[in-house]
Amino acid sequence: MTYITPRAGSESLNLHNEFAPDSIEAKDLRTLLHPSTNLKQHSQQGPVVHERAEGVYLWDNKGKQYLEGMAGLWCTALGYGNEELARVAEEQMRKMSYSQLFAGRTNEPSVMLAERLIEMAPMDGGRVFFGLSGSDANDTQIKLLWYYNNAIGRPEKKKIISRKRGYHGITVASGSLTGIPTFHKEFDLPLPGIMHVTCPHYYSEGMVGESEAQFVDRLLAELEQLILQEGPETIAAFIAEPIQGAGGVVVPPKDYLPRVAQLLQKHDIIFIDDEVICGFGRTGQPFGAQTFGVRPTTMSLAKALSSAYLPISAVLLPEYMHDAFASRSDELGNFGHGFTYSGHPVCAAVALRNLEIMDEMDLYTHAGKVGQVFQQRLREFSDHPLVGEVRGAGLIAAVELVKQKQPRTPFELSAGVGAYCAAACHDAGVILRNLGDSVAFCPPLVITEDQIDELISKFAIGLDATLEWASKSHLI
Ligand SMILES: Cc1ncc(COP(=O)(O)O)c(C=O)c1O
Repeated sequence: MTYITPRAGSESLNLHNEFAPDSIEAKDLRTLLHPSTNLKQHSQQGPVVHERAEGVYLWDNKGKQYLEGMAGLWCTALGYGNEELARVAEEQMRKMSYSQLFAGRTNEPSVMLAERLIEMAPMDGGRVFFGLSGSDANDTQIKLLWYYNNAIGRPEKKKIISRKRGYHGITVASGSLTGIPTFHKEFDLPLPGIMHVTCPHYYSEGMVGESEAQFVDRLLAELEQLILQEGPETIAAFIAEPIQGAGGVVVPPKDYLPRVAQLLQKHDIIFIDDEVICGFGRTGQPFGAQTFGVRPTTMSLAKALSSAYLPISAVLLPEYMHDAFASRSDELGNFGHGFTYSGHPVCAAVALRNLEIMDEMDLYTHAGKVGQVFQQRLREFSDHPLVGEVRGAGLIAAVELVKQKQPRTPFELSAGVGAYCAAACHDAGVILRNLGDSVAFCPPLVITEDQIDELISKFAIGLDATLEWASKSHLI
């Protein structure tokens, strides 16, 4: 996966010596270390400064308007500038700007939010642990599983199976769960005891002559073989996003996740459902687990939980895990896990109101309805000479660009075709993100059908510009 900012030939290209020394752009280049960025290119091209946002639109500091096609980083579900959420944040800040959950203290917004999440979640959820990011939620998942298995006398049951192209975060442990090489290289990850199996992407991983059903059989056999080889008594959990987001928006074959869940149950392995992207309507249902018909053991939530108005994450656990923590922490004198901002009352109040607004707007139904239109419209690009596959569900999708459709021949990644396309779309006024040569779409859930038309026509401009560039550059 590459994160390359606009390339030569794109209108967005800036050379940083064009920036006035006291401009935000110049100061950015002197001060910030940018996450997930090609740092060398950034130092040559400089930043794009986003200045304000409203609904599904953003404006840069030159006044140019963009349609937000990625909900920020898959997170701004309600769109930008929601006055009610601003009011709730202000009210809670004035009432009590901070409180903690350590040492048995509590606050009303955290309790109310936990209650709501337990009611909603498609699992036997008994307890909620709050954090601030998807990464810390998945780190917490690992630590809690280790603690749980120690507490119930299974200290050898610690390994975790994840999947190639899965994205579960960036901290040492959650970064190890992530199955994308760029997040491991030079960081000495993954940690031992974390293993990755094949990504369930039939289009890129299916073998010549293999049917989709045979593909699923093969992946299930691979998973079971790994479990047996390592010994089920050593494996604590399997983690999966219902749709893999940052790995390229991979939609698994329909029966893949239910069959995985069955296999895990057979071997007494916990199913961690990472709903950080899919949760709260993204796939057209409240949770991705519901779209794919699975019942997880634990869940990680973040992003749309607050529509990114404030940072907050949650781990949902079954009651029996809490029971084990309670008796072991009594013996130890403390349950030694928690963040200063676990249960931050302002974040919790905003998240709770965000979920209420989603209900008041019947937003999951809306996302399901416009999601269908969106998926249909995107599939109109299937015949485009550069398009190998269009995939997605609800309001998340990707268009994969290939050198040749049949047999499927990808471009050299170094050619930067996906990056060029994302930059050309940016010039056309829509923010999309390339994940390698897949162009990802994840608009705010409040997007209307008219705005989907606009998104599609702006993408068409970007895609055609990419075709013209690719043929001039003899890439096709
Ligand atoms: C599925 C999934 N899990 C976890 C994370 C990590 O979340 P954060 O960036 O908030 O740490 C992400 C981030 O994109 C994600 O997509």
